[in-house]
Amino acid sequence: MQSTNLIQNKEIKYKDISWDFRKDFTKYSNHGFHTYPAMMIPQVARRLIRTYGKNAKVLLDPFVGSGTALLEATLHENFEKAYGIDINPLALLISKVKTTPIDSKILWKEYHELIEKCLDDKKEINFSQKQIEKPNFPNIDFWFKPQVITDLAIIRKNISEVKNKDTKNFFLVAFSEIVRNVSNTRNREYKLYRMSPEMMKKHKPDTISTFRQKLKKNITSMKQYFEEYNKNCKVNIFPEDSRHKTSIQDGEVDLIVTSPPYGDSRTTVAYGQFSRLALQWLGYDQKKVLDIDKVSLGGVPTKDLIHDLGSPTLKATLQKIADVDPIRARDVLSFYVDFDKCVQELHRVTKKGAFLCFVVGNRTVKGVQIPTDEIILELFQAKNHYKHHNTFIRNIPHKRMPKINSPTNISGNHGVTMNEEWIVIIEKE
Ligand SMILES: C[S@@+](CC[C@H](N)C(=O)[O-])C[C@H]1O[C@@H](n2cnc3c(N)ncnc32)[C@H](O)[C@@H]1O
Repeated sequence: MQSTNLIQNKEIKYKDISWDFRKDFTKYSNHGFHTYPAMMIPQVARRLIRTYGKNAKVLLDPFVGSGTALLEATLHENFEKAYGIDINPLALLISKVKTTPIDSKILWKEYHELIEKCLDDKKEINFSQKQIEKPNFPNIDFWFKPQVITDLAIIRKNISEVKNKDTKNFFLVAFSEIVRNVSNTRNREYKLYRMSPEMMKKHKPDTISTFRQKLKKNITSMKQYFEEYNKNCKVNIFPEDSRHKTSIQDGEVDLIVTSPPYGDSRTTVAYGQFSRLALQWLGYDQKKVLDIDKVSLGGVPTKDLIHDLGSPTLKATLQKIADVDPIRARDVLSFYVDFDKCVQELHRVTKKGAFLCFVVGNRTVKGVQIPTDEIILELFQAKNHYKHHNTFIRNIPHKRMPKINSPTNISGNHGVTMNEEWIVIIEKE
């Protein structure tokens, strides 16, 4: 897929490999706590904050995900407030923990107690002197081996006995991350596919040891964060929907740094599917967990292709897709109808002079590349005054997004590729 033919104004929109950060380490500070689909790389967030947030005091990420932009804001001396919004409880937990400083001395003490209790429980259960209550969500035996279920249940029970809420959440994030690692899911895939029978035979994870290693790494990172974070920056993360009125005051925000979802979770990134096993282990309501992708932007297709969105580029693109497949065109439209609602909300919460930075993927549907970077810009400019500063096109060298996606949700049926990201910067006038 070549993007260069899309460039209309070479002064404003161009490929800039200095945004690739090809060789940079992306897991410094607390950035490595938890994998998340389509994570922003911290270097991109950091550069956007440094370039467009020189005098900014309030940052917002309305699709906070695992909190990359929020964490970067707390490492920057300017900010007094950093807000995050997401509809996925796992995203809220991860971003909260990554931006909550805890003294590593406390964490080490709790760590030793926790691991000791887990190992004692395991011994007693092996000698049948103790029973452990196991969760009972659908298909648990399909996704986890019996010994793994027992070990995860032991860890979960002992974490639930930790008294301090921040420390408990810190442990829960490490627990959530290893749930996927010890499960029977295929490694490195964000969607839920089970390992092959051959791989299953070899798969004998030591769950408690995996948890232990993960915790040790996270505590070491937290020690560094505790020394570096900006104590004047208050973080607030809301379990809200950016399509509606949020808890943020009118005109409060100076800088937005965000990467919205790609839309159409069936074929791109399914945040709900990615989060499901961890959330089930964490005890979240089963129905809510299954509904995450539905409440995500573009989660429900529109009834028809009639719309009044002010983007000529969207209109032309939809027509091309509809000529091939009208149903897929409705899927695509639903994402932009939802995104347009977010445009109104972001317009309400930002100050005049605020910079809004969006990192987007221009996905391809039915062979038609959708220029989301241009559509977003047109949606903002359709109703309000926004100046387009730049669109930088970067390569995605890190494996944050599966470069090959399955357009039908059938494993092995590949089609869509995403090797680049568009960083769109606009200013509210
Ligand atoms: C591309 S991810 C963000 C990744 C993030 N930048 C990071 O570094 O981890 C997009 C996020 O948008 C969230 N999202 C989807 N629909 C939303 C909505 N209506 N309101 C708020 N967040 C939403 C998803 O749950 C997902 O966490």
